[in-house]
Amino acid sequence: MPKSEQVIAVGAAAMKMLNPPHLLGYGRFWAKGLNSYERNVRLALGLQSTERLLGFLYLSTPKEATQPLERHAPDPFVRKWTGSAKREATTNLA
Ligand SMILES: Cc1cc2nc3c(=O)[nH]c(=O)nc-3n(C[C@H](O)[C@H](O)[C@H](O)COP(=O)(O)O)c2cc1C
Repeated sequence: MPKSEQVIAVGAAAMKMLNPPHLLGYGRFWAKGLNSYERNVRLALGLQSTERLLGFLYLSTPKEATQPLERHAPDPFVRKWTGSAKREATTNLA
């Protein structure tokens, strides 16, 4: 499997691990941080030189309710679908 697909698969798996605690009200955070690059950390985790550490998943109990962050408007990053969904769906199934 290409490396890019392996990294994407790890990202998808990590998000699946982070969503349930979020829904249950726990704090959760994905951080790569400087520890990920430390030789001793890699040794302690038994990582081979061919393996990549993509970060740590932290779980916590918030002391107080967190407020939603202000998000960027999605407009610069998304555009409206203008094609025919019906025709595309048929094409993709072929
Ligand atoms: C692979 C990966 C590594 C990350 N490493 C860090 C990190 O080292 N430090 C950090 O502050 N945020 C890091 N983040 C970002 C946080 O996990 C989080 O997405 C960001 O703080 C925004 O959080 P929010 O979308 O819940 O507001 C990383 C995210 C990913 C996907």
